[in-house]
Amino acid sequence: MNSIRLRTLVLAFSMAATGLAAQTIVASGSAPVIDNTWWKHAVIYEIYPRSFQDSNGDGIGDLNGITQRLDYLQALGVDAIWISPMYPSPQVDFGYDISDYENIDPQYGTLKDFDRLMEEAKKRNIRVILDMVLNHTSDKDKWFIESASSRKNKKRNWYVWSDGKPGPNGTPVPPNNWVSLFGGSAWEYMPQTKSFYYHKFYKQQPDLNWRNPEVENAMFGVMKFWLDRGVAGYRLDAIPTLFEDPQQRNEPATGGTNAQGDPNLQEIYTSNLPEVHDVMRRMRAMVGKYPGDRVLIGETYLPNTAELDKWYGGAKKDELQLPMDMIVGFSNKLDANMFRTRLSEVETQVHGSQPLLVFDNHDNIRSWERYGDGVHNVAIAKILATMLFTTRATALMYYGEELGMVTSTPTRVEDVRDPIGKTGWPNEKGRDGERTPMQWDPTPPQAGFSTSATTWLPVASNYKTVNVQTELADPNSLLNWHKNLIEMRRKRDAVRDGGMVMLDGTNASVLSYVRTAPPGHHNIVVALNMTAQPQKIALDLKEAGIQQTAIKTLMTNESSLMGATTTSITLPPFASWIGEVQMQ
Ligand code: GLC
Repeated sequence: MNSIRLRTLVLAFSMAATGLAAQTIVASGSAPVIDNTWWKHAVIYEIYPRSFQDSNGDGIGDLNGITQRLDYLQALGVDAIWISPMYPSPQVDFGYDISDYENIDPQYGTLKDFDRLMEEAKKRNIRVILDMVLNHTSDKDKWFIESASSRKNKKRNWYVWSDGKPGPNGTPVPPNNWVSLFGGSAWEYMPQTKSFYYHKFYKQQPDLNWRNPEVENAMFGVMKFWLDRGVAGYRLDAIPTLFEDPQQRNEPATGGTNAQGDPNLQEIYTSNLPEVHDVMRRMRAMVGKYPGDRVLIGETYLPNTAELDKWYGGAKKDELQLPMDMIVGFSNKLDANMFRTRLSEVETQVHGSQPLLVFDNHDNIRSWERYGDGVHNVAIAKILATMLFTTRATALMYYGEELGMVTSTPTRVEDVRDPIGKTGWPNEKGRDGERTPMQWDPTPPQAGFSTSATTWLPVASNYKTVNVQTELADPNSLLNWHKNLIEMRRKRDAVRDGGMVMLDGTNASVLSYVRTAPPGHHNIVVALNMTAQPQKIALDLKEAGIQQTAIKTLMTNESSLMGATTTSITLPPFASWIGEVQMQ
């Protein structure tokens, strides 16, 4: 369990503690408003560039590889790709340690390759979103090298430095108990200037000092560099961690230790400080000057929906357009009551802002294992996809999620590539498992990912059956389920722009809701059986103000439901069913 996985756990725990019980929550079915802002309807697809497609046979994915695969993404129905960091980097944290913010790592290609990717993506109506790491740079970045060189350097105050406290035998010790999310003290001593620098993540990722306006200025400059090149926006990495307590007070211990052996701390002085919202407002204003509805997405693991609302800017809506709602997707339990409550919360408690749902990313065990029961995993994955694409949210997915790619955690420490898996072994095996190469076809040995004999991480062993080519040929595959859902979402006004009303609000086994359509368009009803038992339902559409009762099945993974004509049906275990309400 890595710290990011742990964050998910902490989140689940703090929410359990609020005592969410079975309850009827009917979200407002307010009159649907047609709004063509692209990101409100978008399917955004995260690409981990090392693992998507290798075009030059070195066993590592690259930008030209992404360009080669754009036709696939277009056919899937993707509106935008988010590319995890592809900037020059020592690759300690596989790109999240950036040493030059205005270039491309030679492993991934050149700026020319990037421009070609942008051009080819544009031809296919696919926008490109970049990952922006603002909390820290690499320790090899020229800014840090300068800052560390002397106490008098003009960039000294660009990072977070401390003299520490006097230690027992004359050597100073860190100023407080702050720990790195990746293990050990968050303070690293530099003998040449007799001082410590702060790092929330690896010691090769020193934190920038956002209290210094020069830092904001420089980073906004970097963001403009790529906005001027045409990128559609940013995913802001680890954004709640931008500020630290200027008094550097100790964080309260919550008891016990984490997978890295460090004490569990309540991160009140190193995460989610209110100052970050001022930066977000200024950033939104800066990005808002560009034409074309550029978008800001936040990596926002937060304990509850009220906290999430702050990242939108609350009623003012002047911060991020799309902070990630990790509360729904990383609840890690297939529980109808919980999904009903949380989906309703994000409908009703964010001042009408646009929800962004996500079930998978490059930091967490894949949803396949987090939600799967080992027997019905395909059906369960179809349930998750149905929630992702038929609720009102903007949908964020991770490469391979559409195939049912599994988490292939290394079994020997010597095979681990992610440093936290090396330092934390065997409690923490790192994030390699969810970063294995994309599975394109059944060809051995690299499943179409690469022509190299070895790849940076091995291709998962199930590639002969779980791959794009094989699944495209199977009408019942998880991949085709995704394609059909995305197509339906595009074509149906109710799903694209409609309101959302929960039905059957006390049913602990089945999650049901209606997407209410503008007048003259069909309402759409969705029912998802989240249990291993058959479930009989008789949905009352009047709860959503709908008088008609006749239904036509639009999509289901169960042939027994194909002919359903009303909402009185029996859902087989883990069935997904989507019906169109007929207009009489
Ligand atoms: C984010 C990234 C993660 C990275 C960390 C430090 O959580 O998603 O992969 O290790 O930030 O940049």
